[in-house]
Amino acid sequence: MFTLTTRLLALVAATSGLAAPVQNGNSNSPVSNLAGFQNAKLSHSAGGNAVCIIGNVPVSVTTQTNEKILLSNPANQSSVTNLFVEYVQANSTLQTMANGGQTTVSGTYNINAKLCYPLNWDSKKSSKTVQFLIHGIGFDKSYWDLASGYSYIDAAALAGYPTFSYDRLGTGASDHPDPIQVVQSSLQVDIAHNLIQSLRSGGFAGQSFSRVVAVGHSFGSIQSVGITVKYPKDVDAVILTGFSTNTNAIPLTFVGFNPAIANQNKPATFGNLPNGYLVTDTSISNQLAFLRAPNFDPKLFTLDDNTKQTFTIGEVFTLGNPVAPATAFTGPVDVVNGENDFIFCQSDCNLPTDQSVLVLDILYPAASKGSQTVIIPGTGHAINVHYKAPAAYQQMLNFVRSNGF
Ligand SMILES: *[C@@H]1O[C@H](CO)[C@@H](O)[C@H](O)[C@H]1NC(C)=O
Ligand SMILES: *[C@@H]1O[C@H](CO)[C@@H](O)[C@H](O)[C@H]1NC(C)=O
Repeated sequence: MFTLTTRLLALVAATSGLAAPVQNGNSNSPVSNLAGFQNAKLSHSAGGNAVCIIGNVPVSVTTQTNEKILLSNPANQSSVTNLFVEYVQANSTLQTMANGGQTTVSGTYNINAKLCYPLNWDSKKSSKTVQFLIHGIGFDKSYWDLASGYSYIDAAALAGYPTFSYDRLGTGASDHPDPIQVVQSSLQVDIAHNLIQSLRSGGFAGQSFSRVVAVGHSFGSIQSVGITVKYPKDVDAVILTGFSTNTNAIPLTFVGFNPAIANQNKPATFGNLPNGYLVTDTSISNQLAFLRAPNFDPKLFTLDDNTKQTFTIGEVFTLGNPVAPATAFTGPVDVVNGENDFIFCQSDCNLPTDQSVLVLDILYPAASKGSQTVIIPGTGHAINVHYKAPAAYQQMLNFVRSNGF
């Protein structure tokens, strides 16, 4: 075991580009056990405060609540554009017309996941609370670890918490099945449920985590809400970022995206995907929907634009399906929004009243008294790309700590 650990730690040092190898080179090292991961690699988080196992995790999942969508793969960009013209049409009936009712979808999908530990984490003494990070549309798991100073994974590690992030089905290095009938919001919720169960039962790296805090961003927050509705015992606490119950700007958002067929927009990356996989067209689309100038780092914006990820027609047509009042969820909830979130607040989260507070009022009637809300000043939808990201992280980690996790 010692030899294996030493070799792995040498690999960490070699691949991370960091001078100092991890110090806890013994069999207690959390990264000495790669159970549950295929093709596992080790790396550090962007700021070097966490050591991570990255690999494929096969997830066998069934959901009864996907939707039979009465659309076929679009033939060309004109068909995609017209789909969105009809989607935002006054009193559009497109979503109703395309809804062929609930259907069951099952499969085994490879999910590319990243389990990160604080450098000095000790399975006997350290926190057994894992934070479960679900990214939004246009990103993959790298949203949580963009760069030094803009990494929730680093901030959580410094506060003593392991994190589990993953590329949602249909993004990044995870599988990309049928973009209309399979990659939908309901299946995404059941994949998250499955991963959380594995974290609790010791399915990853031989660690059984006793507590799970779900942390969502945007569409990832929609799934986090979905988990607290459908599986209220899955998570002990939930942090919703870039999310509200105000959907007024969703049509504006899809127009702003200028949705483009991914395989034509970025053939080198997405050339093999069917036409139902879409991306935001240009960096202009990305700034419009996700950012508030001048309060973001231009270098991160360029990085983010270069690594933009796909979304699917199936997700667009089932976007809000998991959202309902989570009447059986009794843990604490933290709602974190940028003041100028375009997608969920039409750029003003204080109008007509505090949208973070409204989320608690409307969706979490039974949440514990430890719940909190915050509006981060001058910040757009993709909080992690903005200068105020570290302030958001501190609020989130204080929330976790103050609730005794
Ligand atoms: C796109 O596909 C549709 C449906 O097959 C077809 O009617 C239309 O002519 C095509 N448009 C272009 C510009 O190729
Ligand atoms: C939408 O339909 C409602 C009736 O259901 C009608 O009152 C309203 O004027 C319509 N809006 C538009 C923009 O056509």
